[in-house]
Formats: sequence, structure tokens, C-alpha cells
Amino acid sequence: MSINPDLAVKTGPLNLKNPVLLASGTCGYGIELQGFVDLEKLGGIVVKGLSLEPRSGNPPPRLMETPCGLLNSIGLENVGVDRFISDKLPALSALDTAVIVNILGDSVRDYQELAGILDQVRGIDAIEVNISCPNVRAGGAAFGSDPDMASEVTAAVRKATSLPLIVKLSPNVTDITLIARAVEHAGADAISLINTLLGMSIDIKARRPVLANTFGGLSGPAIKPVALRMVWQAVRAVNIPVIGIGGIQNASDALEFLLAGAAAVQVGTATLVDPLVSVQILEGIRMYMKETGISDISGLPI
Ligand SMILES: Cc1cc2nc3c(=O)[nH]c(=O)nc-3n(C[C@H](O)[C@H](O)[C@H](O)COP(=O)(O)O)c2cc1C
Repeated sequence: MSINPDLAVKTGPLNLKNPVLLASGTCGYGIELQGFVDLEKLGGIVVKGLSLEPRSGNPPPRLMETPCGLLNSIGLENVGVDRFISDKLPALSALDTAVIVNILGDSVRDYQELAGILDQVRGIDAIEVNISCPNVRAGGAAFGSDPDMASEVTAAVRKATSLPLIVKLSPNVTDITLIARAVEHAGADAISLINTLLGMSIDIKARRPVLANTFGGLSGPAIKPVALRMVWQAVRAVNIPVIGIGGIQNASDALEFLLAGAAAVQVGTATLVDPLVSVQILEGIRMYMKETGISDISGLPI
């Protein structure tokens, strides 16, 4: 008997038609991919991180391919929250897929203000808080590197919005479970991880770092084992849903995260290589469930 697997997932208060999402910063504001991918097949789209004001990002070079990965120091270039709402959101929210807005800031107040603005807008299904950014007022350490700062920013955003709240963790920490628990207790509905791992590369002929910003974030297949380990740990540390991210290139990669206990996954760098890959990943998950006789996605975790 052939089964028709149910791929719908509940990520806290957020309902998704399936567990495959596009990761922030690798799909623009979603609509840029419209001509290439049937976006309505996907569970959701996480847009490029938004700040209160537009940002032009870091100077070039800001991308470098590494063995099995990508180093980027885009520097959070974005159109700013107002232009997102007026120019991008109308077309995006008309699509039958979840719209998740990723936010960033230099201070707790920035995050809180952004969440308050987005809370008043129709067409947004959830907020994802990028806590990998430096807390400029507190000496530049990333919010996500310290449980107290992570907790403070989560609580501030929680107060400003009733939208489902996903906090996206930084992997640049010693013990991910401390940060995961801190944001859970501060009111996160779900967590997503991992963001990029800090790295660098040196041009030996020019005798200087390749990236103008010296450091960048490493993504792609190279980081998948680290991401999977952290997702496994986070799933076992908290009682809220976990969204797995990091180096997912195909359905097998995505299934590893789902078997580890992730409720959903995000596909990042792989979309830059092949814009259609997320839909193929979704079909691969469906095929695996049929072949293994698993009728409901909640039956996947080991
Ligand atoms: C070019 C680029 C830009 C990114 N911009 C953002 C961003 O604005 N906000 C964010 O939270 N993560 C951002 N990320 C991180 C990704 O969303 C993802 O967490 C990370 O790349 C790991 O997944 P991957 O290996 O599938 O790419 C960016 C990644 C890349 C490669």
C-alpha cells in the first residue's frame, strides 16, 4: 500500500505546510527567486536580515569560496525595514508560504523597535532574531555569545510582538545549550541554528587577508557536521522546536537534521549553487518517508 506522507509541521505557534524553508541572506527577499522556483511548494521563506535603517554592508571583496564552503562578510546589507514593508512584502506575502522576517540590530533597543514595527504589519508569519550581531553598546561582543545578552534581547523582542518568535543562535560559542536554554526561558517560541562559523583566508601573494573585513562567516557543506552536532545538543536541551540549518545540500542532509530532532530545516548556501535545490530536497524527504513507511513527519526523529 502506498502512503501519502503528511509533511505539515507545527513550529511552536507557527504552522508550516512542510519543513523546508529558505535561509536568511541566501534568497534575497524571496521574490527575486520567483521566476526560478515554485516558492509556494516550500514551507517558508526567511528574508535577508533587516535593520531599522538601510545598510550598504562591508566593502568588497566580501565573498570567497573555500573547499566545501563559502566565506562571506556581506556585513548585513539590506534595504531597511520601511522599504521592505513598502516594496517587498506585498508580493511576498501574496504567496502561499510562510513569510519569516529576520531582524538584526546594534542594540537591544534596535531589535525591540524593529519587532514593534513588524508586529503592526499584515502578511508576516514569524520573526527570526539574528543574535550573531555585535552589541555595539556593550563593547562589540555578539549578543549570541553570552547567555545574559541573548536572554535580554529575546525578552525585549518578546515584549514588542505577539508574532511567533524564532531566535537564531550563533555557533561561535563553547556551549550551545546554555544559549538555547537562556532564550527559551526569555520567551522564544522556537530556535534556529546554526548561523555561520567565524573564519578567514589569507592571499599569500598579496600577503593580506582575502576579505576586506578580514573575518567572514563560513557556510556550506563544510559546516554540516558541526551544525548537526549543535542541533542534536539543542534539541535535547530545550522543550521548544528547533530548526536545523548548516550545509544542507540534499534530502539526505536534511533528513539527518530531522532525524536528530529538528522540526524543520533551512537551506542556505546550496540555493546559491542551484536555486531549485530546496524543492528537490522536499521531494527527497517525501520519497524517504514513503519508502520507509513513515506517514507523519513527527515520526522521523530518532
Ligand atoms: C551570503 C550569506 C548571507 C547571509 N545573511 C544572513 C542574514 O542576513 N541573517 C542571518 O541570520 N543569517 C544570514 N546568513 C546565514 C545563513 O542564513 C545560514 O544560517 C548559514 O549560511 C548556514 O547555512 P548554509 O550552510 O545552508 O548556508 C547568511 C549566509 C550567507 C552565505
